[in-house]
Amino acid sequence: MNRIFSGMQPTSQLHLGNYLGALRNWVALQDQYECIFCAVDLHAITVPQDPEKLRRSTREIIAAYIAAGVDPERCVLFAQSGVSGHSELGWILSCHTPLGWLNRMTQFKEKAGKHRDNAGLGLYGYPVLMAADILLYKATHVPVGEDQKQHLELARDIAGAFNRAYGKETFPLPEPLILGEATRVMSLRDGSKKMSKSDESDYSRINMTDDPDTIALKIRKAKTDPEPLPGALVELETRPEADNLVTIYAALAGESRAETLSRFAGQQFSAFKVALVEVAVARLAPINAEMNRLLGDIGELDRIMRRGAERAGEIAAKNLAEVHDLIGLLRP
Ligand code: AMP
Ligand code: TRP
Repeated sequence: MNRIFSGMQPTSQLHLGNYLGALRNWVALQDQYECIFCAVDLHAITVPQDPEKLRRSTREIIAAYIAAGVDPERCVLFAQSGVSGHSELGWILSCHTPLGWLNRMTQFKEKAGKHRDNAGLGLYGYPVLMAADILLYKATHVPVGEDQKQHLELARDIAGAFNRAYGKETFPLPEPLILGEATRVMSLRDGSKKMSKSDESDYSRINMTDDPDTIALKIRKAKTDPEPLPGALVELETRPEADNLVTIYAALAGESRAETLSRFAGQQFSAFKVALVEVAVARLAPINAEMNRLLGDIGELDRIMRRGAERAGEIAAKNLAEVHDLIGLLRP
């Protein structure tokens, strides 16, 4: 059986990178797989959080999943902290993970910055908890953006190490699904940096909750170069900002980058940006409206999360019992 698990951190608003790199693919995959989608609030607290904001962001992210087209009837939607098995398996897996593996993780190095000794143990162990999220459900496939590839490889290594330690294929090795034209959306201000929640400039990203005027303004202000759009993809290789805008357009319009170029070759960015605003607003405005509607009924969102946590909890309990038995943890 094929099962999907994926999650996003409820840290602040979702942006276009989250949508094109991950969420949009989830919507397409729910027809072929059994899907479990989580708001990974325990990952969010690896850096300081405000309790009120965390509560709000957790509901917002679940609303965003549904507004983008994830069906709460077919998919399991919940907050990670609602199933205690994530923390428990996280601990067990940390006892099977050599420090050397964690020392290779580039995201920790980026997030911890220069003062690594001040970074929390949770931030360091973040990828082990992520492995636990996936393995707790014996998920076979994990749709994510390109930046999570290294964490996924670690999850596979941990699953393999656990299986070998107890001589049983307990966990399937989870496959990353990195899909679509825009697996790594870059900042609108700097084509060498990824679009991210943590960038201090709001002009670097398009948030899922931006209104049409804000989207238009951000795209108009997006960095480009003075050349018109080229005719061939290879010519974008040395033009990161142009490449990013073409990629975003293609992904939003549901076509390949080559198709986008063939339509806009030779045109100035001023004209291309008008078309980009149009397709961005057409895609994002309905999602935004639906998100706001859903957030008007917090009771219903909480019910969806409670039901999701119950369904997830049943699968988790069964798999954890198997893990306990293998390790020799008594359940008298
Ligand atoms: P996060 O916001 O870090 O929890 O990421 C949630 C999902 O969005 C993950 O699958 C990421 O790989 C994906 N993602 C985040 N930023 C980007 C980006 N700039 N481009 C493509 N995918 C992204
Ligand atoms: N680390 C992921 C991110 O920052 C979020 C995440 C946590 C996740 N657990 C996961 C993604 C399990 C996929 C599967 O984007």
